[in-house]
Amino acid sequence: MLSHTLIKNLLASTTFGTEVNARGWVRTRRGNKNIAFIALNDGSTIHSIQVVAEMSKFSEDLMKKITTGCCLSVTGDLVQSHGKGQTVEIQAKQVEILGEADAETFPLQKKEHTMEFLREIAHLRPRTNTFGAVFRIRHHLAFAIHKFFNDRNFYYLHTPIITGSDAEGAGEMFHVSTLNAANPPRNPDGSVNFAEDFFGKETNLTVSGQLEGELGALALGLIYTFGPTFRAENSNTPRHLAEFWMIEPEMAFHDINDNMDLAEEMLKYLVSYVLEHGADDLQFLNDRYDKELLARLRSVTEKKFARITYTTAVDMLTTSGKTFEYPVKWGSDLQKEHETFLVEKHNAPVIITDYPREIKAFYMKQNDDGKTVRGMDILFPWIGEIIGGSQREENLEKLQQRIREMKLPEKELWWYLDTRKFGTCVHSGFGLGFERLALFVTGMSNIRDVIPFPRTPKNAEF
Ligand code: 4AD
Ligand code: MG
Repeated sequence: MLSHTLIKNLLASTTFGTEVNARGWVRTRRGNKNIAFIALNDGSTIHSIQVVAEMSKFSEDLMKKITTGCCLSVTGDLVQSHGKGQTVEIQAKQVEILGEADAETFPLQKKEHTMEFLREIAHLRPRTNTFGAVFRIRHHLAFAIHKFFNDRNFYYLHTPIITGSDAEGAGEMFHVSTLNAANPPRNPDGSVNFAEDFFGKETNLTVSGQLEGELGALALGLIYTFGPTFRAENSNTPRHLAEFWMIEPEMAFHDINDNMDLAEEMLKYLVSYVLEHGADDLQFLNDRYDKELLARLRSVTEKKFARITYTTAVDMLTTSGKTFEYPVKWGSDLQKEHETFLVEKHNAPVIITDYPREIKAFYMKQNDDGKTVRGMDILFPWIGEIIGGSQREENLEKLQQRIREMKLPEKELWWYLDTRKFGTCVHSGFGLGFERLALFVTGMSNIRDVIPFPRTPKNAEF
């Protein structure tokens, strides 16, 4: 038997008359008692190849079993197609059913399904055109991230998934333990004795690789992490996941302006990369769901991002004449509605810097005004916050003072503080939420639809 050829390559081929073998899953079947037209898709591209089978050449039993969802191996001649919207098709000579799909119970039918229903069959939704497109785009984005950093002399650093520290000090962590939850060993005062736990201490799933990333940057200069992160916040929104992937570059000798420059360059690069390498899939999503998608993506690659301070943002909001659901006050965090206003006002992505220190993490570089820190959030159209980052406080005393003010466990951070004792320097970094980026690029409306198997409150099936 011939080794099979990817449908993506067959569709680009012009060697008509040659015998080929394709393998994939039946998307649709139509025809009459003389002839069957089968749309076969193998996931290599959004496009299916048309297989033409003359009924008289095959057994009735075989033809009956060719239904939506079944897996086929088709051998035949590659010929020029006269059907509209396609250039090549396969004139079937041999058809083998590799895996039948029971037509009565196969849940993906020709009619359009809701996104909610497709989430309930997340094990099969990659077989739809939409999710095929989304997951291929996700791949292109991931690949482009590695390429972007590798081309700029960054090293990929693997930070731990299981950690003893709470990097953000937000306390929204999943515990990792092998103790018997029903009857754990206890201290004399009744508290759980974690000394007897697997690691001999309390451990959690990481919320961020940043603190370890900083250790890497102060040795390798330029590093980035790209791995899963976990947050046990009970946020049931279209933009939050309990398990999501984050990209966190960390750079020695970079201040907040260098940090913003890199983040802007990276986002533009990633969107441009997908416009080039995921063109077919993006076109499909544009035509099917969101006619503005391609225009919005191009606009982000072309426009200079606006850069304003938090204080300016608050001024703009309070003098806007608009009433917001959440009142705007210097010192409180910006809400989604405020972010939306700022992005629409600038008609471009917006970078906000110099936040009040009370609403930001302990590690952010303190400004001389004693009130603000050199943090930055990047706000995108539709998404809101896509990146959070900062210049880091490199001064040991200032860092310790902030840790004490915030009542964080200073002793447990001894290894982090050591970098400020031994050869500290100006450094910066940021975190890009991978699924927030995928959401923006695909134009999907819910973050659960850009990750193959979403983890959200009360949902960890599959
Ligand atoms: O703003 P965050 O919390 O920043 C950090 O974790 C820093 N340690 C990053 C750094 O400076 N190295 O998270 C960074 C980004 C957010 O801007 C957002 O895009 C994404 O991670 N994010 C989430 N994405 C999906 N679901 C959630 N629950 C998210 N929480 C944050
Ligand atoms: Mg943030």
